[in-house]
Amino acid sequence: TGPELFQPERRNSKGFDLRHTPTLDTLDAARDRFRAHHWYAQPLLSDAAHPELDEPVVNPAQLQDKPGSVAPASAADVELALASASPWQAPAAQRSRVLNAAADLYEAHYGELFALLAREAGKSLPDALGELREAVDFLRYYAANIPDAKPAGIFTCISPWNFPLAIFTGQISAALATGNAVLAKPAPQTPLIAHRAIQLLHDAGVPRDALQLLPGGPAVGGALTSDARVSGVAFTGSTATALKIRTAMAENMRPGTPLIAETGGLNAMIVDSTALPEQAVQSIIESAFQSAGQRCSALRCLYLQEDIADDVLTMLKGAMDALQVGDPWLISTDCGPVIDEQALQGIADHVSKARGEGRVLKELGTPPEGTFVTPTLIEISGIAALEREIFGPVLHVARFKAQEIDTIIADINATGYGLTFGLHTRIDDRVQHVTEAIHAGNIYVNRNQIGAIVGSQPFGGEGLSGTGPKAGGPNYMARFCAPDRQSAKD
Ligand code: NAD
Ligand code: ALA
Repeated sequence: TGPELFQPERRNSKGFDLRHTPTLDTLDAARDRFRAHHWYAQPLLSDAAHPELDEPVVNPAQLQDKPGSVAPASAADVELALASASPWQAPAAQRSRVLNAAADLYEAHYGELFALLAREAGKSLPDALGELREAVDFLRYYAANIPDAKPAGIFTCISPWNFPLAIFTGQISAALATGNAVLAKPAPQTPLIAHRAIQLLHDAGVPRDALQLLPGGPAVGGALTSDARVSGVAFTGSTATALKIRTAMAENMRPGTPLIAETGGLNAMIVDSTALPEQAVQSIIESAFQSAGQRCSALRCLYLQEDIADDVLTMLKGAMDALQVGDPWLISTDCGPVIDEQALQGIADHVSKARGEGRVLKELGTPPEGTFVTPTLIEISGIAALEREIFGPVLHVARFKAQEIDTIIADINATGYGLTFGLHTRIDDRVQHVTEAIHAGNIYVNRNQIGAIVGSQPFGGEGLSGTGPKAGGPNYMARFCAPDRQSAKD
């Protein structure tokens, strides 16, 4: 056991304690400095970019607020990036130091990052705090666990808007830690924070030819996932997009090129009649409505055992009444906006259909101006009635009888998704039985089912929810390495 076998010390970010008023004041003041700031995002390439257009970025909570503008990557930019991408050849120890330095820079710029998360992605302060912590944890976790293997080469990293800092950084840092060149394509809704994150990574010492940014939409993503010079793709987003990427890769790339896809879910929770109602209701509220329900992990279908259903629903409706919907800049806000008009319309259509069928059990008043959806409770017969993932603060609830538990498990598994699952019960045998039978990547018992912690709760789904391996876990980085896993000694 030589010293090289010891992992460098790593701790998860401590974050901030929002119950401490002076801390809250400090955070507010740091964020406030960027209340009217205008950011700019454009391709960040190793050579000069040729941005073509300059489009405004919109604050989903206040549509008249434009926090910045973006020049998406052109086809020429994509070609420049592919031609100049060069794996990061520094020794593993140096890559580790640089990624830790980037984590320090992220923490030092918390005020600006919180402001970007609020104004570009509609994130409340607690959500922004959690997101920064997760991003920093990914950087430090991957920096501390670099496998002794060769990089795959050039990795395309494509991310969604709902964790525009944490997931964006997580994919990139794993690919960089293993020595790859990265072509990063953020979601078109959130280019500003991506641009700022790449600048911080460059400032920390990541070479520009090893990390290039290509803002844009499906056309840019399509080009980066159908070129044989790319050695692997890390994708997080919807299942439909992952399937398109898989086809494009199969048609255009070398056989065996890895696709790491983290996708959507139809996540369920079962609450049986032995559950502690107060604990269950708190978990339901957090799982369904935190981040305005815009987490892949969020609870979509709640199963309540018949004999406690009415009581739990009464408590749940009361707890929903206490939720504040509005400007994510206000610390009192629980539920911010959904990301854009298109998302709003898709959710509104779903709720309106349920309303027409008399299935809406609870709706919280009129939403404020902006792209807001108020928390909504809809009755359904079971998870099979859900045709798609409704990505917002809408919770579906079904009742079950004690003898139906295995049927429910079969129905949940039959969706083909398998991301998160929650169980509230005080029967130990039931915990054992249900958790063994359910197909889901992350299973939570007697708590909420969101907010996996890097390192201790590796996150990822199975079936239609993802390819694995789990992010923030010990097997993730091996997929970013060349298959021969030859030694790459420092
Ligand atoms: P999306 O699939 O619409 O977009 C994701 C990314 O893919 C964006 O950057 C987009 O521009 C890009 N893209 C779109 N079409 C493409 C194409 N043809 N080729 C290449 N790239 C393309 O998803 P979204 O709306 O940004 O994110 C929400 C979805 O992400 C939800 O389904 C959610 O469940 C899922 N998600 C999953 C996880 C997870 O860890 N499993 C985490 C967060 C979000
Ligand atoms: N990793 C995020 C969560 O667990 C998506 O909520």
